[in-house]
Amino acid sequence: MRIAIGSDHAGFEQKQQLIAYLTHSGHELIDCGPASDDRCDYPDFAAKVAREVSVGAVDRGILICGTGIGMSMAANKVAGIRAANVISTEFAELAREHNNANVLCLSGRFVDLLTNEEICDVFLATSFGEGRHAPRVAKIDALD
Ligand code: RB5
Repeated sequence: MRIAIGSDHAGFEQKQQLIAYLTHSGHELIDCGPASDDRCDYPDFAAKVAREVSVGAVDRGILICGTGIGMSMAANKVAGIRAANVISTEFAELAREHNNANVLCLSGRFVDLLTNEEICDVFLATSFGEGRHAPRVAKIDALD
């Protein structure tokens, strides 16, 4: 899968590790930055990743900040983005199955790397459930 990934300073270390992990798993990662853990503003990187997803340049986006909260707020401002702040594999599965989330927002400060790797695996492997979920997601998209 083609995946755009970005972070702020609080998510930088896990971004680097997730790039290595997901590349090793066979995915193609597009690193939208930052290039160091110097302090920076998470909306700048949320916008870069969200726009890649929005125009169809990639299949999915992954964003990591301290909590994942700011990243999800910013990414969801971009048309066509359904970003989910996920801290468990159960939420990762539901975000895909029920909400057809296309951007995964992770916490680099409160969730360990191993858990975030598992969250990524589930998020990338789970399909949208369609059926009763489809008109609900269509109503989300109509809010753009
Ligand atoms: C940075 O200190 C922190 O505010 C940011 O990483 C993120 O958690 C915001 O939601």
